[in-house]
Parts: sequence; C-alpha cells; structure tokens
Amino acid sequence: MNRLTNKRILLGVTGGIAAYKSADLTRRLQDEGAEVRVVMTHSAREFITPLTMQALSGHPVHLDLLDTETESVMGHIELARWADVILIAPATADFIARYASGHGDDLLAAVCLAAECTMVVAPAMNQAMWAKESTQTNVDLLRKMGVNILDPHEGLQACGETGAGRLMDVPDIVTRVANLFELGLLAGKHVVITAGPTREAIDPVRYISNHSSGKQGYALAQAALEAGARVTLVSGPTNLTAPDRVTLVTVESARQMLEAVMQSAPGADIFIGVAAVADYRPETTAEQKIKKQSAEGMTIKLVQNPDILKSVAELREGRPFSVGFAAETENLVDYASRKLEAKNLDMIIANNVADSSIGFNSDDNETIVITRTGQSPLPKSSKEVVSRKIIAAIAEKLAADSEQVA
Ligand SMILES: Cc1cc2nc3c(=O)[nH]c(=O)nc-3n(C[C@H](O)[C@H](O)[C@H](O)COP(=O)(O)O)c2cc1C
Repeated sequence: MNRLTNKRILLGVTGGIAAYKSADLTRRLQDEGAEVRVVMTHSAREFITPLTMQALSGHPVHLDLLDTETESVMGHIELARWADVILIAPATADFIARYASGHGDDLLAAVCLAAECTMVVAPAMNQAMWAKESTQTNVDLLRKMGVNILDPHEGLQACGETGAGRLMDVPDIVTRVANLFELGLLAGKHVVITAGPTREAIDPVRYISNHSSGKQGYALAQAALEAGARVTLVSGPTNLTAPDRVTLVTVESARQMLEAVMQSAPGADIFIGVAAVADYRPETTAEQKIKKQSAEGMTIKLVQNPDILKSVAELREGRPFSVGFAAETENLVDYASRKLEAKNLDMIIANNVADSSIGFNSDDNETIVITRTGQSPLPKSSKEVVSRKIIAAIAEKLAADSEQVA
C-alpha cells in the first residue's frame, strides 16, 4: 500500500558522505506515492550532483537563497509552505548547528526557519562528531523545538571508524516519515470521479446542458483526497476551482467525458460517476451559427449519448468499484435500486432533486446510500459532510467485499 499518497516532502540534502543515499531515498519516497522536491546546500553539491537529484525527483533542484529568478518562481517561503514534511537527510553536524541556532544564511536554513510543517532530521557523521557535546546539545535543542530526530545507526563508517553516526537505513527513514501521517480510509487507492454537467453542441454558440453545478463531485474529490486517495477528477464545465492535488481533466461533451474516463478508470480502485451527463445530444452539430428561420419553429433531432457509468461498470478488465448517483424527483429508492441493477453498480447514491433546497445547485444534499445488501440514509447536511460520509461508506463496503473474497 502507498503510505505517502498525495504527500509533499521537501528533501534537504547537506554535505556529508551519505549524500549519495538521498538519491535512493527520493525514489523510495516516490514509490510510496510522495511528491518530492529537493533543496541542496553548497557542500552537498560536492557529494552528489543537482542533475541526479533533478532527474530523480522530476523537478528542478532548489539551490540558492539569493537568486532572483528562483526566488520569484518558488522562493524559500513558498517552499516552506508547499511541504507537508521537511526531511533533512543526511544532516551534517554543521547544518544541525546552523538550524539549532536559527541561522537563515543559506536556502535550506532559511526554509527551515520559515517552516511551520513537520520537521525531520536524519543526522549522519563521523562517530566522534556525533558524540561531541556541541552536536548533542544542538540535537537536544532541535528535539525541544519539536523536530523529529532519526538517530543515526551504529556500524562501520566511511572513515573506517566504528560507532554511532551512520545515516539511518533508507527504508527505515521512509517508514518513520510515513508513520508521521495517519493512514486515511482510502490510503493508496486511486479514485476517478466525474463531476458537473456536459454540454452538447447545437452549433458553435449554442448547446444543450443542465443545472449541475459540480459542487457534489468536487466535494467528493476533496473528501477522497482527505482519505488518502489519489484522485482524478473528470469535470464538465463548472465555475469551481478543483481541489489542490487532484489530477483535473476538463471536458465539454458526454463523448469527451467517456474518452477521458476510459483513459483513467480501468485499473483504478474506485469510480464515482457524479456528473450529470446529458442522455442525448443533437444528431449533428452545425458548423456555422444557425440563422433564425420561419415562425413555424424548428426541430433538432437528438440521439442517445454513451452511458459512461455503465461502460465503466461493464469493464471486463480493471473494473473499479463502481458508484453512481441517481437524481430522481419521485420513487427515489425504487428508481435508484433499478439503476443499480441495470448498470451493474456496486453502490448508488440516491438524491431527491424535486426539493430545491438539496441537490443540483444547492450547497446541501440529503441522500440514501444503496447497495445490494442494504441502504442507509445520510441526513441533510452540507455537500462536504455528505461527501465524507459517502467516502466512509465506500471504504467500509470495499473492506467488507475484500474480506469476503479473502
Ligand atoms: C570528504 C568529506 C566528508 C564529509 N562528511 C561529513 C559527514 O558525513 N557528516 C558531517 O557532518 N560533515 C561531513 N563533512 C564536513 C561537511 O562537509 C562540512 O561541515 C560542510 O561545511 C557542511 O556543509 P552543509 O552543512 O552546508 O552541507 C565532510 C567533509 C568532507 C571533506
């Protein structure tokens, strides 16, 4: 399971002989789902090249404090704010001294000074340097400041001496960092969500659409992120800002939405179809704006759109746990249950759109979660609260299903 999905780790590399291990550390953190960005001190560059760290992290390495160009792109304050965790590995005795005494004279020290996130320091040095009273006093001070210290291991050192001072083993560092985060209900899962309306073009300026605001789908994306999932949000046109850290794919028509969904849903763990996909589209789209014609009116022939939810639920390979929404104005449970069967879904969320205080364009929702084995009502509350409950219900059903399989 990926223990660091969606987590942002700023890796500080300082000038010790163990700096080469930061390359492996970057990879291992990424394997756990983390996004890693790297800051290197001047000395660190003598031990491992920024190019190596750039290639591994997939981002330019941050090197200088007083560089107008990099400061304008992502300066020390932005870097400190970006990170969920700042991990300095390896940390030299000199860096520990600078950090403990509040220096801000290079980029990494300034980032640490500005940081309000969780801090982790993994010292690595010669055993005598580690045992020195000054180093131990500085480390104690960092501990008092709330910094997590990953004590170095004992063993044979690069200098030929034996004792405590070796960088903690890379897999242990990764585990210690992962343990700082609570594992969410959907930790490591990939969730694909559709949201908003679709637009079916009549001509270059007109379209058929509906009143879906996208609020419910976007709130579900946020709730899934909070639960530790990696989220792909396929969205029709909305006025909303996608939550930070989702992979957003914007589309207009039902056919574009199907294409985008089929790129990401096969192999995903969960698919939630919240979008209000137009059932029909004009058979043809006029290339030029249609001119006003006779007073007798005009007819637009509509043809059926593909059924995105059904297409996902019918996947033979890589079928995700499939969840649909049923917006009904009457016979809520009955219609929704039929939809669950007809589309071969695992769960359906029924909501009554006849009441304008809930559903489509409102901030609240009141729903019923229906599966083949039961149903539970979610009382009226904000779309954010409803979303967290839906995500919890999905996680619970997934866990129950996988227990049955085992
Ligand atoms: C070959 C060599 C290896 C070094 N290894 C370490 C080390 O493992 N740990 C340490 O604390 N300092 C080590 N140093 C000393 C640091 O490089 C030195 O204190 C430097 O100023 C640290 O800079 P920084 O903390 O800004 O990266 C080493 C120096 C040399 C020349």
